[in-house]
Amino acid sequence: MHERECHVWKKDAQSEFNRWAETYDRSILNHLLFHRCYLKFIEYIIRHYPQQQPIKLLDVGCGTGTFASMLVESDLQVSPTGLDMAQRMCQLARVKSQQIGLEQSMNFVTGDSEHLPFPENSFHMVTCSNSFHHYPHQDKVVREMFRVLRPGGRVVIIDGFRDNAIGWFIFDVCVTRVEKSVHHCSALEMFNTLTAAGFDQIEQEKFGFWVPALATTGKKPL
Ligand SMILES: C[S@@+](CC[C@H](N)C(=O)[O-])C[C@H]1O[C@@H](n2cnc3c(N)ncnc32)[C@H](O)[C@@H]1O
Repeated sequence: MHERECHVWKKDAQSEFNRWAETYDRSILNHLLFHRCYLKFIEYIIRHYPQQQPIKLLDVGCGTGTFASMLVESDLQVSPTGLDMAQRMCQLARVKSQQIGLEQSMNFVTGDSEHLPFPENSFHMVTCSNSFHHYPHQDKVVREMFRVLRPGGRVVIIDGFRDNAIGWFIFDVCVTRVEKSVHHCSALEMFNTLTAAGFDQIEQEKFGFWVPALATTGKKPL
C-alpha cells in the first residue's frame, strides 16, 4: 500500500473514533460483539495462564478501556496497558479507570499499533479486538506485537469472521461500506501473517453465529 493511502486509512480511523468515543459505550455493538470478545479473551487468559501469576497485558486498539477495567475488577492478576490511536478514546479510558477507583492499576497510551512505544519482551500477553481491520500494514503490527511479547507470551487477535456468507455480508459489504478504509482478513491470511512474524502454536476459533468473530492466538517461541 502506498504511504498516501496508508495515511488516509489512519486519519479515517482516528477521526471516526475520536468522534464516536463519547457514545461508544452505549453502542448496540457492545451487546452484539464487543462484550463477547472481552469474555473470549478472559477465557484465553484462564486457559493459558492457569497458575494465576501476575500478567502484564497490552490491549492494542483498546477503545474506551472497557476490557482493561473488566480485568482489574476481576480476580485475575492482570496489569493492563491499553494503546489506542484515538486520543479521545484514551482520555475516556482514563476517566473510566478513575470512576472505578483503579487508575493506579492500569495505563493508557495514545499511539499507533504499527509503532508500539514499548521495549521488546515487555508483556506476557497482547490482545486486540475489533481493531485489526483498521490497520493498513497488518503484517507490521503483528511483528510489533511479537517484538513486545516476552518469549512464551501469547497474542490473541479477535476480528470479524468473513469466511462465510453471513460474515462476508456484515464485514466485507456493510462494515466496509460504512468505514471504507478497512480490510478484514480471511482466517488463512491471519494464520499466515502470524506465522510470518514468528509465532507458533497458532490456533483459530470462530464464535458467534449472526455476528461471527474469529479469534486467532499464537505463541512467541521460548
Ligand atoms: C471498534 S474499536 C474497538 C475497541 C475495543 N478493542 C473494543 O473491542 O471495544 C477500534 C479501535 O481501534 C483503534 N485504532 C484504529 N487504528 C489504530 C491504530 N493504527 N493504532 C491503534 N489503535 C487504532 C480505534 O481508535 C478504535 O478505538
